[in-house]
Amino acid sequence: MSIEQISAHLQRLWSPEVRTLEPYVPGEQPKIDNLLKLNTNESPFAPSPKVAEAIISALNEQAEPGNSLRLYPDPDASALKHAIAAQQNLPIEQVFVGNGSDEVLAHIFKAFFIQDKPILYPDISYSFYPVYSQFFNLNVVEVPLAKDFSIDVNGYQQPNGGIIFANPNAPTGVFLSLDNIEVILKQNPDSVVVVDEAYVDFGGQSATSLISQYDNLVVCQTTSKSRALAGLRIGMAFAQPHLIAALERVKNSFNSYPLDRLAIAGGVASFEDQAYFERTCQHTIANREQLVMQLTALGFDVLPSKANFIFTQHPHHTAIDIAAKLRKTGIIVRHFNKPKIQNFLRITIGTSEQQARLIEQLRHMIKA
Ligand SMILES: Cc1ncc(COP(=O)(O)O)c(C=O)c1O
Repeated sequence: MSIEQISAHLQRLWSPEVRTLEPYVPGEQPKIDNLLKLNTNESPFAPSPKVAEAIISALNEQAEPGNSLRLYPDPDASALKHAIAAQQNLPIEQVFVGNGSDEVLAHIFKAFFIQDKPILYPDISYSFYPVYSQFFNLNVVEVPLAKDFSIDVNGYQQPNGGIIFANPNAPTGVFLSLDNIEVILKQNPDSVVVVDEAYVDFGGQSATSLISQYDNLVVCQTTSKSRALAGLRIGMAFAQPHLIAALERVKNSFNSYPLDRLAIAGGVASFEDQAYFERTCQHTIANREQLVMQLTALGFDVLPSKANFIFTQHPHHTAIDIAAKLRKTGIIVRHFNKPKIQNFLRITIGTSEQQARLIEQLRHMIKA
């Protein structure tokens, strides 16, 4: 039910703040025949088969003492934290987990960003940052991206109560080097700097290697993209223990059991199957390079991407028109009706077959 459908009389029962909230709008999950969904950056590949095996065996262990769904899960998700810490080469005290990185980000905002000074993030970035800023009533300064759509490091020298950006950035896919991230960290020793690495496994370089040197760095990651587990909802944050302690305080003041038993079992299996993870990431990267070549041949400009999506525009066709025409053929891509990027489309990397179908439709359109 949308807010317009609810009378002011009935809205009187809401907390006043809820009337002014502008919630995040997730990419559509439409029910269309022959749908090709290239709009929410999910993986086109299945998760490691070991994930389903682990979930089924967790269910089959129901009768065993300690393993039943009758019982609450481990509030600390220790088995999962151990598996993640081993894969990331970090001590377990530097690992935090939550119900998707969206929840982890909410805890990050609550734990670090409720400050007198404004929070800084790029004017073009993940659309949940403005939503959480409103939710937590924060002052914000949006720092414009540079002309080439890269993050402008110099913009983060102004007074602030915290900094967050996605790297690779979303929806551009553009990657900021670790040297540049270090510049931001050094310029802001009294603010927490959050690097949201939802897409880092597709050719970027993780800032986790900087954690031991910077007591103000938080790195956030997810299993939703590179581990093909968007449906399981596992997100994580990495930082020095004093920052993890703040996140645990927030988590335990909100929901002590954010990860259920099946998610913990499946997550552990995913992190233990490193070979499968690396194979599917490489496959995605290869498909991305192929898609970029094909789009460029059709006259599209494509921003350099290190993500599992590309951001592209065509000099002679509007993005809104292309998106509408693709939709008629069952192909959904993401269009953001926002200044500076309204002529761009964000297209998720698919399988080779899916991309062939996309390119065929685009070729017809461009020729016409
Ligand atoms: C930059 C960025 N961060 C975080 C997320 C949230 O991911 P999840 O909540 O599935 O872990 C997304 C999802 O699209 C994203 O694009």
